[in-house]
Amino acid sequence: MLVTTKEMFKKAYEGNYAVGAFNVNNMEIVQGITEAAQELKAPVILQVSAGARKYANHTYLMKLIEAAVVETDIPIALHLDHGADFDICKSCIDGGFTSVMIDGSHHSFNDNIELTKKVVEYAHAKGVTVEGELGRLAGVEDDVNVSAEDASYTRPEEVEEFVSKTGVDSLAIAIGTSHGAFKFKPGQKPQLRFDILERITERLPGFPIVLHGASSVPQNFLEEINKYGGDMPGAIGIPEEMLRTAAKSAVCKINIDSDIRMGMTAAIRKYLAQNPSHFDPRQYLLPARQAVKDMVAHKINNVLGCNGKA
Ligand code: G3H
Ligand code: 13P
Ligand code: ZN
Repeated sequence: MLVTTKEMFKKAYEGNYAVGAFNVNNMEIVQGITEAAQELKAPVILQVSAGARKYANHTYLMKLIEAAVVETDIPIALHLDHGADFDICKSCIDGGFTSVMIDGSHHSFNDNIELTKKVVEYAHAKGVTVEGELGRLAGVEDDVNVSAEDASYTRPEEVEEFVSKTGVDSLAIAIGTSHGAFKFKPGQKPQLRFDILERITERLPGFPIVLHGASSVPQNFLEEINKYGGDMPGAIGIPEEMLRTAAKSAVCKINIDSDIRMGMTAAIRKYLAQNPSHFDPRQYLLPARQAVKDMVAHKINNVLGCNGKA
């Protein structure tokens, strides 16, 4: 069933686990994610970026997700990822999403509050939950590119004011994760600032925290991509051990996109290299969809801990 994140996060907080938020762009991705979640009886968040809407079109994505809701009996939240302004949030709220993110992290503190509050007022009147963001992650997305120098950790002393003045339902924070497959420089030791997370949690007891940029860039995907003609030297993600620790804390939502991209690309590269005469897209999209399903199942079981929580 299609749900907001409200109840999901309450249960995740109290149960010391996190819900996976996976980015969707096409049918195979929606199927891979929801088949894994269904088999493991896990709640799941399907999130759609502005880039996904540009690529696949809002209506196609809505219909794919409606199909997943019909085919499963787990709680599914449909969430806008990185809404940049009021208009895109409004369009998704009016268009059937149950949750939106307003990403005002590129604005000043006061402008972020003003923008987020406006989205919250509109969303809550329609029963939709809202995620805000404080602090800035490094990394590259379709519509945003933040260099490591412009990235900054969330300031714990700002979180109470932000949450109370905006009325957001969850807060994305920056503690060292980043978007994309190149999260740390070669030779740099992956590190997350759990001390900052702790200081934020002390100030916001019981409040759901969100981690973006949480792909772990599995070695097997990387090896296959590089083995079959790809070239991703130096790709490095967040160690799963750190994500496991985060999932047991106030972090209730963990965002994963790059691992889906890499899993699909690895499977397709391998298939086409081994079957150079095949040209039916169903032949190479089948292992790609399976790679998404296996990866999501692995995260649910071994990282998020949300198996059996549906
Ligand atoms: O955090 C961003 C997501 O990975 C979405 O990326 O903007 O390329 O669709 P995108
Ligand atoms: P990754 O690039 O680490 O998968 O992060 C995805 C994300 O944060 C989507 O909002
Ligand atoms: Zn993100």
